[in-house]
Amino acid sequence: MTGELGRLIYQQIQAQGPLSVEEYMALCLGHPEWGYYTSRDPFGAAGDFVTAPEISQMFGELIGFWACAVWQSMGAPPRLVLAELGPGRGTLMADALRAAAVVPEFRQAIEVILVETSPTLRRCQRDSLAAIEVTWLDQVMDLPDGPLLLIANEFFDALPIAQFVLRADGWRQRRVGLAGDELGFVDGPILALDAPPAAPGDIFEINPQGRQIASWIGRRLCDQGGAALIIDYGHPFTAIGDTLQAVFRHQPVSVFQEPGAVDLTAHLDFQALADAARPAQATTVVTQGAFLRALGIEIRADRLMKSAPKHANSVASACQRLIEPAGMGNLFKVMGMTHPGLPLPPGFPS
Ligand SMILES: C[S@@+](CC[C@H](N)C(=O)[O-])C[C@H]1O[C@@H](n2cnc3c(N)ncnc32)[C@H](O)[C@@H]1O
Repeated sequence: MTGELGRLIYQQIQAQGPLSVEEYMALCLGHPEWGYYTSRDPFGAAGDFVTAPEISQMFGELIGFWACAVWQSMGAPPRLVLAELGPGRGTLMADALRAAAVVPEFRQAIEVILVETSPTLRRCQRDSLAAIEVTWLDQVMDLPDGPLLLIANEFFDALPIAQFVLRADGWRQRRVGLAGDELGFVDGPILALDAPPAAPGDIFEINPQGRQIASWIGRRLCDQGGAALIIDYGHPFTAIGDTLQAVFRHQPVSVFQEPGAVDLTAHLDFQALADAARPAQATTVVTQGAFLRALGIEIRADRLMKSAPKHANSVASACQRLIEPAGMGNLFKVMGMTHPGLPLPPGFPS
């Protein structure tokens, strides 16, 4: 077993028995010393993956305009919490705030709060947002009272999921145990589960922390007003399937490869989040391509290309990457949540 965290997990399983997939994922991503997000900045060509805000400034800018428009539809409250969950390098928020400067009343109204558990990434965020007054929190439930606009891009896919496998005698919890000198999947106890129709061997996933956070957001939006924007890869409706995946240096690898050194994620069940957030209103789930087009990404790209012709090719290819089906356009989906009294936010079809 390679790596400090791999050896620790191996010894823990030897001593106490298998871990649930959720416990395994939580250790790999969030162990205080050797967890994936705790110990590194994983972004960019030299890292493991590239996210939309790192591809182009246009992504964060359009979200900044989206936030201004929703704030206006809320009656322009004089105080507002603008929060981002899992802000990575802080690029999205920096681009959004620069764009939002065109509405000075909005900039004056907002209190910027970043919900981030990684000390390494908090340092990156501090650099990206050096000129801005920012507060950091460990968890969303600690956000201060008031109307809220909340952004989460590729946050929910990084939360630990529970997996279940259908056997002849029913659904069993999927666990991580030992297969000789290596880690491997083993079956846990039988559980009663409310899952869609499935065949033996099928996997069903639940994101318990994601549902808890969505439920908190829903209650908060209903009680104090506001909206949330969730962007991630996933399926619009609850479905059967094994989506747990590991990525290292932009390549898929085994989920048991060097724990803590590779990124582990799972697709989002948007329907489960919308259900958890009720009675907050959820929009239909649209593709990232449709959402960014509706917000005017092609017009923004055109303006950028005209103002800096030297960079026209890179602006055009970044725009295509964000919206085209062959890029991120179809894989990534977008869902809004709002106070039930708010109009449909920009970017979603009526
Ligand atoms: C895939 S990155 C997305 C980064 C960023 N939103 C972007 O688009 O570039 C996931 C982010 O969520 C943070 N994160 C993971 N688990 C978290 C948790 N339980 N609470 C707060 N932040 C978390 C990570 O440290 C990281 O900043």
